[in-house]
Amino acid sequence: MRLLLLFVFVSFIFAGCSQGLIPHVRVILGDAFTLPENCQTDEQGDLYRLDLYGTPEVKVAAHKQGLWTPTEVYRERIGKNSSVVFNPAVYTDTGVYELRCGDRRVDVQVKVVMSSERCVSEGDAVSLSCYFSTTGKARWSVRWEKNGEEVLKRNSWEDTGAAEGRLSLSPDWVSHGNFSLTLKQAQKDDQGDYFCYIQDEVVIAVRLTVTGQRSLDQSSSTRPPFVPPTPRACEESILPAVIITAVVCLPVGLLIGWLMTSCCPRGASYRRSTK
Ligand SMILES: *[C@@H]1O[C@H](CO)[C@@H](O)[C@H](O)[C@H]1NC(C)=O
Ligand SMILES: *[C@@H]1O[C@H](CO)[C@@H](O)[C@H](O)[C@H]1NC(C)=O
Repeated sequence: MRLLLLFVFVSFIFAGCSQGLIPHVRVILGDAFTLPENCQTDEQGDLYRLDLYGTPEVKVAAHKQGLWTPTEVYRERIGKNSSVVFNPAVYTDTGVYELRCGDRRVDVQVKVVMSSERCVSEGDAVSLSCYFSTTGKARWSVRWEKNGEEVLKRNSWEDTGAAEGRLSLSPDWVSHGNFSLTLKQAQKDDQGDYFCYIQDEVVIAVRLTVTGQRSLDQSSSTRPPFVPPTPRACEESILPAVIITAVVCLPVGLLIGWLMTSCCPRGASYRRSTK
């Protein structure tokens, strides 16, 4: 009994003091994410989403013989699997989840973050937007993470104003609440998911795509062939394809139209889509 009390006491202290130590998942809205904790294969267990603002806790899934089975509410987004995969993340997934495996309790904090998409050509500069109202407080800190790794950190009370390599903040970042990250001379490696943390709270994410150089240098034979970016990248990279399509199809369309002496609004859809 005494041991149990001690255990409860210690876990209480631990839980109280180590808010930052429970596993965190930062996920972009609409992406899939996997819970980083799991029950052992032979353990029976349940996953609960803990209460939020007085709403009762909700059972998410049950674990048996190495397989998670979602409850009715989650059936559409969680499949039967050996780990819990939410697909896709919705905004209300933000919260604290608790795995109850045997008599183990493991908490995981999930935060779903809105993101914007940016596209930049290799070699160009790009600014990743993050804003926050900085009134009413004197001390501000900002941290940018790329794919989970810190790339820039700045505190207002010890700001040197120096850029970190190709990364910088606006000189007025505190007074204007402009926490945007400027990245100079973008490289292919810079591509990824950037998360902006203000006072240690994630505010927004930016998914950056770096496309091939705009002006292809034909003289360089060592350069690998230009690989067009994936279609889900930004509009900029789709535009040339649309223009090529329009340039090729428009005369053909006009010719056919002229041959058929039809009166349809030829090529109108192409022109509209290039806007
Ligand atoms: C189980 O989840 C993993 C990701 O954690 C995924 O790669 C795999 O396809 C899933 N299996 C099934 C059967 O859905
Ligand atoms: C915020 O700062 C970035 C540079 O870091 C700049 O490019 C951008 O224009 C600024 N935004 C506004 C609204 O001034």
